[in-house]
Amino acid sequence: MPPPFKKHLFVCLNDRGPDNPRGSCAQKGSESLLKAFKRALDARGLGESIRANKAGCLDNCALGCSVVVYPEGVWYGRVTEADVPEIIEQHLMRDRPVDRLRLYAPQEGGQQTAAPDREPEPPSEGTSRFPSASKAR
Ligand code: FES
Repeated sequence: MPPPFKKHLFVCLNDRGPDNPRGSCAQKGSESLLKAFKRALDARGLGESIRANKAGCLDNCALGCSVVVYPEGVWYGRVTEADVPEIIEQHLMRDRPVDRLRLYAPQEGGQQTAAPDREPEPPSEGTSRFPSASKAR
């Protein structure tokens, strides 16, 4: 199937090197993560309808590996290769975003607004990943 694709998944591949205090997704394995998404999509016969692309910094560096899925505009953080099957099978195939990995609460109408201008605090064990609405703006 030629473009436009049904969905686009972007994985941040920004690399600031190992000593940068901001961190970066490439230092957390995002290149392997993107390859894992591509392999898993191809293995499910989805490689021509759902595109996994590399992206530059998505401004969630401390919470990488950062991934965003369009057209829904769902942002994921701390994504690892172990999360790939769940994101593909729940979100990309069944349109049910994986809440435990979401960075921002869904907005009215099912879509999120623009990324916040600050990074949310990492969630404590057993708490929601969603920052409060006031923090997300
Ligand atoms: S380095 Fe990946 S979000 Fe900034």
